[in-house]
Parts: sequence; structure tokens; C-alpha cells
Amino acid sequence: MATPWNTQLTPTIFTVCVFLIFSCASSEEKPVGYGYTISTVNNFPITNSLIANLNLIKSSSVFGPDIPHLSLSASFENKDRLRVRITDSNHQRWEIPQHVIPRASSSQYHPLRFLSTKQGFKNSLTLTHPDSDLVFTLHNTTPFGFTLSRKSSNDVLFNAAPDPSNPQTFLVFKDQYLQLSSSLPPQRASLYGLGEHTKSSFKLRPNQTLTLWNGDIPSATPDVNLYGAHPFYLDVRSPSSDGRVKAGTSHGVLLLNSNGMDIVYGGDRITYKVIGGVFDLYFFAGSSPELVLEQYTELIGRPAPMPFWSFGFHQCRYGYKNVSDLQGVVANYAKAAIPLEVMWTDIDYMDAYKDFTFDPINFPLEKMRIFVDTLHKNGQKYVLILDPGISVNETYETYVRGLKADIYIKRNGSNYLGKVWPGEVYYPDFLNPGSQAFWGGEIKLFRDQLPFDGLWIDMNELSNFITSPSIPSSNLDNPPYKINNVGDQRSINDRTVPATSLHYGNVTEYNAHNLYGLLEAKVTNKALVDITGKRPFVLTRSTFVSSGKYAAHWTGDNAATWNDLAYSIPSILNSGIFGIPMVGADICGFGGNTTEELCRRWIQLGAFYPFARDHSELSSIRQELYIWESVAASARKVLGLRYRLLPYFYTLMYEAHTKGTPIARPLFFSFPEDVTTYEINSQFLLGKGVLVSPVLRSGATTVDAYFPKGTWFDLFNVSNSVIAESGKYVTLDAPPDHINVHVGEGNVLALQGEALTTDAARKTAFELVVVISGSGNSYGKVYLDDGEALDVAGVKYEWTLVSFYGAVYNDSVVVTSKVTNGRFALDQRWIIDKVTFLGIPKHQKFNRMDLSEKELNIVNGTSSMTNAVMKSDSDSSSGFVSVQVSKLSLLIGEEFKLEIEMK
Ligand code: NOJ
Repeated sequence: MATPWNTQLTPTIFTVCVFLIFSCASSEEKPVGYGYTISTVNNFPITNSLIANLNLIKSSSVFGPDIPHLSLSASFENKDRLRVRITDSNHQRWEIPQHVIPRASSSQYHPLRFLSTKQGFKNSLTLTHPDSDLVFTLHNTTPFGFTLSRKSSNDVLFNAAPDPSNPQTFLVFKDQYLQLSSSLPPQRASLYGLGEHTKSSFKLRPNQTLTLWNGDIPSATPDVNLYGAHPFYLDVRSPSSDGRVKAGTSHGVLLLNSNGMDIVYGGDRITYKVIGGVFDLYFFAGSSPELVLEQYTELIGRPAPMPFWSFGFHQCRYGYKNVSDLQGVVANYAKAAIPLEVMWTDIDYMDAYKDFTFDPINFPLEKMRIFVDTLHKNGQKYVLILDPGISVNETYETYVRGLKADIYIKRNGSNYLGKVWPGEVYYPDFLNPGSQAFWGGEIKLFRDQLPFDGLWIDMNELSNFITSPSIPSSNLDNPPYKINNVGDQRSINDRTVPATSLHYGNVTEYNAHNLYGLLEAKVTNKALVDITGKRPFVLTRSTFVSSGKYAAHWTGDNAATWNDLAYSIPSILNSGIFGIPMVGADICGFGGNTTEELCRRWIQLGAFYPFARDHSELSSIRQELYIWESVAASARKVLGLRYRLLPYFYTLMYEAHTKGTPIARPLFFSFPEDVTTYEINSQFLLGKGVLVSPVLRSGATTVDAYFPKGTWFDLFNVSNSVIAESGKYVTLDAPPDHINVHVGEGNVLALQGEALTTDAARKTAFELVVVISGSGNSYGKVYLDDGEALDVAGVKYEWTLVSFYGAVYNDSVVVTSKVTNGRFALDQRWIIDKVTFLGIPKHQKFNRMDLSEKELNIVNGTSSMTNAVMKSDSDSSSGFVSVQVSKLSLLIGEEFKLEIEMK
């Protein structure tokens, strides 16, 4: 046990400063609060933490009485994570329970390694960690404040030291209004995250209020709170004038709080206005964007692994009429030779919109079984929808079982009655520990009838078609501070479960509202694991911090407009930053009628979303990819490339699951030193090196694409290249059937062949594309397993990981591999039959069309190379030579070295 020491502060400072506040905060508006001062500090050097006791300076009645005594703790949870928690000293307040988001407590981290804390302080006290770049400073000012900065550069990352002349910057802590503000260096901080919102710009623009309160609000509505709540941002810094901060130095900030909130971003300041809970801030040191994500997902949980098949193309629609309609769609895809991996059904399959039932006329179980069996025989999958609302109907067994289990959310002592598709409903309370048995049991009974492959959980914000009257005397239904719900301070009870409703353990909906989708995803995921023993696929609309651990996400109800096509890029990038990398937007647009041109451009982009699903609304025209010949042709082309890239997508999923790195990434993840990339909204990277530059405007046949420094090769036609000595915009041709997708120098891609299903694609030979780097080695890897085992890279070693390294020397080019657990890949007999080197600097020796067999040197690869054919290609305009070796049969599970020596 550590012995705390106490510092008693002098009352003189206190008096002087209270006087200052009175004179400074003399605006017409009454301040919401006057801040706090530090009374004592307990310092625990051994656990590398401190606790400060705070006293209210003066009370204000705006938004309710202030909490007089607060306790602030600051602790290094590890070298890259600092936690600052501020709460009521005397009363326990709502915090997200550990069982909802398990997070390590600080005591689990080698306390003996934490040492240095300055003893005794007058003006400030710092908390450091020998291995950390973060420094926490407590300021003994009036009001008190704190800052977080970097040891290496002195850069201030979070500055909650209040400006005495601006009460908006003071810490305010009331029962239903918490306020904390940090100033930011306006020209140097680029912020991303704080969702879920639809935005035209990925980087947050100043002067906006970001509201977090989950709602069934179409994502076609920009700038308002949507389905999910993620109080997390990534702050990417531009260089400082003293040169100490390198461009791209990044950190992350999470406010772990499930209550409704407004986050006011002013460019030079960020202010949290929260209507409950506590301030529980986590700071992640980075210092690269990738490391921030690694550290963030270490705390909240790494993204769920996704089955291989889920990277195929999905077709859905609200409004499929019957089983033969579904069969027709599947047949039309086959006829058009467009890959279709997964067929979906929306609520149409249900009997009167009741979960776990089949419409006996249009979707009778017998016919559905035949349909799903046929899909499975053809290597395809089937996913269907579930909504949380359980129809109130005495003859409905699920409802009755729910009643017996006493599983529904309550209000005023009875089950809360809402209204959704089936009419009146009760909502299962996923905070109730009995919900796993209830919901899991229903899913099991259902799946015993029809062997579906995944579940789509919708309407889980919670969505309600009615707004129940508020209880006038209740400050939960009518909180004093009105968050900017749906952009116009609509009641927080608007078309959802009212705040006064109760969950298990008397948890109010007011506190737990934003957690509903997360809890449902968690229970659904576990149900599928228990039933199938395989990696589950769950798609959820509503999300919260850590939802990525259980589910994929789609961006909800977008519209078939060009704007919505463009918005989909910031939305999928944000989801990646929130730790939900498996994400996509409804391809061709959900609401309204799409057009041939829009749908064509949308599949061109959507083919490169991590999750690629075409989905449309009941009243919209049909938009399956075969409907228009030009869309079909484009779909064949772009999905062809997607399917060749499946091993790459899958390996990115593996990286996401093991390190938290998004699949679709902003350009600054790979090029943090290039500040131009911070502003880009219309392009993204898959992994480190595949750049997607879509057309987002009607009528356009060119696209102005930004290329960070390096040489980039068109993946549809590798003899096209873009050379950027430094980053530059290039106007690229983008004829109606084309999207620009480039691979950058320094990457090695392992591709497979095109096919109509992922199963068939997995059986084709691999091809390596080695993009020579001007400045060193090229690198790539591929993760291989059976595509559905629960454990990724698990202890049974039923997986193989292969890393590839490529290089060019004066008179040779070479690629080698390093293999971990080769056996799995060897058992599959996977081979590499082609190796292509791109970007070899023009060199006379390589500048011949036919290279002789003598020049090819393969070490270790036991497989035959006698038939290998080499050819080189010199493109006069680009100054590069490419060399292709084909008809190889190198086992991918065996290490090899392939070298072409020019004699
Ligand atoms: C709302 C969902 O966002 C949408 O995708 C779905 O089609 C409808 N609910 C009907 O279930």
C-alpha cells in the first residue's frame, strides 16, 4: 500500500481568484459554473497515480445545483495510456459497468515500474512515467486546471487549464450537466472521429456541435446525431514552428461516458457538455495514427474477426416479395456472371413482422429451406434481419417466453410499450443477464429451422415509432440541459424508449440508452458462437465504443444521391477510427430512386468498401447490379478486382483483429508526414498501399486524385503509372466504366483469381505483385486460415502467415518469403503461379522483352519451375520496366527466394 501525502492549500489564493472570477465572468448570461479549486492532493508514486480533491468555488443554479466536492484521479494505465477520472467525492454515479465494456484496471500494470512524481507543489504538479511520452500536469490555479503534454516536444495535447475570463472553459459538475473544455492549437490540430454523424468532410470543421445520442435518424441527414455514439477522437498534429513536433504526430482521446452529450468544436477549443455520468478520459500516446488505434482498441477490445465469405458481395432489399423473387435475384446474378456471395432478406420474410417467424404465404419455411440449401450448395450464404421489438401478442411464443423470463424493459412498474413494424412491442433488456438465455434461445430455435449464416440487427437505437409522454415531474425525461438532439434540441425521448424506463438493476434508460445496440450485438454474437461454433457474422446499425468487438456496421439509411455517395467515404473512415473496420454504405443508395449512372459509380466505389452490400428501400426502384447493362459490366470489372484482392482484404481483417488498424484508412495513416493528406475526403487507402480514387460527381469522366509521394501503379492496367516526386494532384481519366485503384511502391500484394464466389476464388492460384520501392525494400503479407474458425491465429495453428520482401539491385530483382506455420497452407496445396515485379528503374539489362530461363534463380521452392516463362515490359513513357514470371508453381506454405539475375 502506498502512503498518501497531503497538501493543504492556502485560503489566500482561493480568495484572490474568486474575486477575479466575479469581475471577469461578467457577461449577461449567468455562468453555468465557476469551477473548482484543489484542496488536497494524494500522490501515489508507486502506482503512478494521483488523486486530487476539488472544492467548488461558488455555486450556480443554472442546470441544477453543483456537486460541491469532486475527486480527480490521474493514472498511467500503461506507458501509452493515461486515464483522468473526475467524479463526485461523496456519491457514486453512473458509469459504464465493467461487464459491458471490460477494461483493465490500473493496478494490473506493473506498479513497481511507475516512479517519478514531483513531491510538493505550489503552482503545478506533474505526473510522468519513465517509459511514457505523456506528462500530466495539475495546475494549482483558480479555477484549477490540468494539461497533458508530450515529454519529447512539450506539445500540449489537451489543455483543460481554464481561461479565467471565459466561464465556458471552467469545469462544471452537476448531476445532469458536466462541462469540460480543452483549448487546441488551431492551425496544428486536425481532429477526426466523434460520431456517428454524416459529414462532407472527414476532418472535423470548426464551429459545430457534435451531438451523441443514438437515434433512428437516416444517415442521409448530415450533421446530426445518428445511430451510434463514439466519444473518441484522433488528433493529428501539423509540425510546430520550433520543429520539435513532427508532422503526423498523433494522439487519441476517449471520453468513456454513455450519457447524451454535445461536443462543441470551435477549432481552437473542444468543450464537452454531458448530461450524466462522470468524466472518464483516456489519452492514447500514439504517436502514429496506427499506434493510436492499436492503443485505443487495446482498451476497448479489438475488432471481431470476420468470416472470409463476408468479404464477398452482398445483395439486399427491403421489399423482396416472396421466395421466388429471391430465387430470381440469385439466378439473375448468375446469368449476368456478377459475383454474388450473400443473399439477404429484410423484414419481409417475417409473419406480420414478428421476429423468428416466417410469412406462411410468401416466405413459407419449406420453400425457404430449399432456397437456403441451394445457396449453400452453390457456395453462397444467407443473412436475415432481426429487430429488437417483440410483438405484444399472447399467441406469439417468443413474446410469451420473454414475459415468463421477465426480460422486457420497464417503465412505471410495467413493461414499456413501444411501437415498431409489428405494432405494439416490448423491448428485451439486454442489460438483464437473463437476456442471453432468452435471445440466444430464440435464435437457436430459429436457426434449427433455417440454417442462416449471419444476422442483421436493425432498429437498435432503440427505434420507436411513437414518442411516449414524458413524466412532467421527472428530470430524466426532461433534463435541464437540452442536447442538440436531431439538430433542434428535440426531446431525448423523441421516438425512442423514454429516459425514465428501467433496465435490470434499476439502470435508467437515461444512462444506458446509448449502450443498447452494443449490448444486443454482444448477446447476438455470443448466441451465434454458441450455436455454430464458428466465427459469427453480425451486422448492427446502432453502435457504441467497443461494438467492433462483436459486429460489422453499415452506415444506415443513406439516399440515392451523389452527395450521399461522397459522404460514404468519411463515414467508413470514421467507423474504422471507432474500431469497427468492417463497414460499408448501402451501395446504389437506400432511399429514393437511384439512376444507372449513380449506381454504376456506386458499385465502382462500393466494391472497395470493407463490407460491400447493395440495399434499397421498399418504395425505391430495383437496383440489383444486373438491372442495367452498363452497371453489370462495371460490376464484373470492379468486383473482379475485389475478388482478386480477397486475400488482401482478409489479411487486413487479421491485422484489424490483432492490432486494431482499420481496413479502409485515411491517406495520412500511411503518409502522416504529408499534411495535404489530412484534408482528403474523397479517396482512401485499403491497408497501407492500395489507393481508391472514385468518381463522385455526375457526368464526370476524370477525377482529380491526390497521390502522396511515390510511384503508383493502376491495378486494372499495371502499365499505367503515376509518379509523384512529392505529393501531387493528378487528373486521371475515369471513363464511365472505370474507377482508379492504384498500388503504391513498397508494397507486395498476394492476389488470387477472379471468381463468382469467395469459395471458388480461394481455390485459384496466387499471384504476387511486387512493387519495387525507390527507397528500400517492398513488403507485404498474407494471412490464411479456413475462413471461419473462431480463433484467429489460434493455438491449434490451423493457419499460415507469409511475409514477402522484394528488392531491386543493380543487376537483379528478388522476392523472398518468410513463413509461419506453413503446414496449413501446404495442406491446401496453395501455389503462387505468377510473380510480377513493377517499378524496376529502367536499366538496360532488364530492358529486353524475353528473359532467358538461365536468368531465373529459385531457391528453396521445391516446386517445378521448368515451365516458367519470363517476360519484361518496358513502358517508354513511365521509365519503368516490369518483369513477369508466369507458369510457376511455388508452394505458398514454403519459404522461397526468387531472383532474376541479368547476366
Ligand atoms: C431500417 C434499416 O436501416 C433499413 O436498412 C431496413 O431496410 C429497414 N429498417 C426495414 O427493415
